[in-house]
Amino acid sequence: MNPIRIALTKGRLEKRAVELFGAIGFDCSQLLNKGRRLILPMDSYEVVLAKAQDVITYVEHGACDVGLVGKDTIVESGCTAYEMLDLGFGKCRFALACREGADFYHGYHERVVASKYPHVAKAFFEQKGMDVKIIKIEGSVELAPLLDFAHAIVDIVETGSTLRENGLVVIEDIMPISARVIVNQASMKLRRAALEQLLEEMAVAVKVN
Ligand code: PRP
Repeated sequence: MNPIRIALTKGRLEKRAVELFGAIGFDCSQLLNKGRRLILPMDSYEVVLAKAQDVITYVEHGACDVGLVGKDTIVESGCTAYEMLDLGFGKCRFALACREGADFYHGYHERVVASKYPHVAKAFFEQKGMDVKIIKIEGSVELAPLLDFAHAIVDIVETGSTLRENGLVVIEDIMPISARVIVNQASMKLRRAALEQLLEEMAVAVKVN
């Protein structure tokens, strides 16, 4: 049988995930010396390094069995894979923010909100019954209110320093975020025992660490 494939989000979550695998006792030497390789063996597993949205795509379609990805991307994409475990790291939150001193809710004019997460932003304002124009921005979304392009942003806040250093403040917290483990629906049926063991090992390791 093929090795179980674990899709791992490159970047911020990667280091913590490799530490977690090390704590379980997996041989992470290939992952630690990966160079530019994108598929790395780790004991009986294969680790695939991908961007967050692609982790979800690969797991949803069964190209990978398991994925480690932020709740932010899961919520934004409407992921259909099973969400099995909260890893408790990669903690941050979705928040609505605007320029310091601006009163976002004041008045009856049309409001424009910029976000890398348009679905999250849309759902947030729908649930408030507010009609807001959402514009998708690819990165450094803090620029939008500074350029008078948007009245506010919906974005990830971790330490808060990006907001602070750009004269922006949180108006409202929307949702807490952390790294999650997702599993392909068919894999969960076909490889249940092996996947349950892996999930159990990860659950134990996150409790200890
Ligand atoms: C994220 C997010 C904020 C920043 C928040 O951006 O979009 O800009 O991190 O972190 P902080 O609260 O600790 O300052 P990222 O670094 O992923 O870059 P990007 O905006 O270019 O996507």
